[in-house]
Amino acid sequence: IQRRCVNNNNNNNNNCCCCCCFQAPDGKVQSAMEEAVKHGFRHIDCAYFYGNEQAVGEGIQNVLKKGLAKREELFIVSKLWNSFHDPKDVKPALMESLKCLQLDYLDLYLMHSPMGIKNVKGDLLPQKDGQVIFSDVDYLDTWKAMEKLVEEGLVKSIGVANFNPQQLDRLCAHAKICPDVAQAERHPYLTQCELMEYLKKKGIAWVCISPLSSPESPFWKESPHPKNAMEDPVVKAVAKKHGRSPAQILIRFNLQYGLAAVPKSHNPQHIAENAKVSGGGGSPKHFWATFSLLGLLYFFNPKESFSAQTCKQD
Ligand SMILES: NC(=O)c1ccc[n+]([C@@H]2O[C@H](COP(=O)([O-])OP(=O)(O)OC[C@H]3O[C@@H](n4cnc5c(N)ncnc54)[C@H](OP(=O)(O)O)[C@@H]3O)[C@@H](O)[C@H]2O)c1
Repeated sequence: IQRRCVNNNNNNNNNCCCCCCFQAPDGKVQSAMEEAVKHGFRHIDCAYFYGNEQAVGEGIQNVLKKGLAKREELFIVSKLWNSFHDPKDVKPALMESLKCLQLDYLDLYLMHSPMGIKNVKGDLLPQKDGQVIFSDVDYLDTWKAMEKLVEEGLVKSIGVANFNPQQLDRLCAHAKICPDVAQAERHPYLTQCELMEYLKKKGIAWVCISPLSSPESPFWKESPHPKNAMEDPVVKAVAKKHGRSPAQILIRFNLQYGLAAVPKSHNPQHIAENAKVSGGGGSPKHFWATFSLLGLLYFFNPKESFSAQTCKQD
């Protein structure tokens, strides 16, 4: 799975990037899908929560009908939304995603978060007094129901998103199938060294989400950094030095360590740019040396004491 997910497109040198569907509006998704596949992307990251799986399904069908890729060449991912953590809701939730996507199996199904939310019909984020209402379903029970989906051949593999190392450890200790993939946010403002070490030790592939720092995110918190890492002066300086765009440098920031990254774009020029991230760069050590030289390290969370030494990738 690590090979298929992280190196799913080795021949085209776009091996670690993906076409993603979060906040991609209906109407633009279909054409963005085709554009992404034309540029060599094969990993398609969807989720029930994104509310656009119907449009993604149409995009996938167009790709297949036009012969841009075969189904078995695509790596299609969806996510179990938090409202459906009760084991009895897991299979129906998957079947709904498969129906929208017009597929009979997924390559990877992820638990979108360790926290379940109360299942309220027609409301994916029910609230009381301004707070989301969580459910008390244990993610271990949800996981058992997801393991059955693998046994039934409805999904080729299963994984998680937004889990920390402690939650992953508890899951792995009780699971029949350990997660193949963990999705978690990673960009220069959030490096998550502890998680990186943990996933490496366990052989779980890390798919880095929001690699461009999710500038459109409604969840952005107060921070000393520019909201958009592509506008960070240090990232811009590194980009200039390497003759790349800031987006390309940020994607490469993850690929350089053998991680996958899923930048989202529905803009054809950005999609083309995000596909061209290979070549140059050297070893992780060299890459870090370049970043240090330009002073990039100053904005890492000091609590993580991040340095080329503390994250031992090379
Ligand atoms: N599992 C989870 O809980 C979770 C959570 C968040 C995200 N994700 C996954 O991660 C993916 C990406 O994360 P994200 O959407 O939060 O943010 P992101 O990829 O960090 O940033 C997307 C933003 O960057 C812009 N952009 C893309 N390429 C660009 C380029 N070359 N130059 C300039 N701007 C560029 C996009 O605009 P344009 O569209 O206009 O190019 C969009 O505004 C999502 O689609 C989703 O698949 C998963």
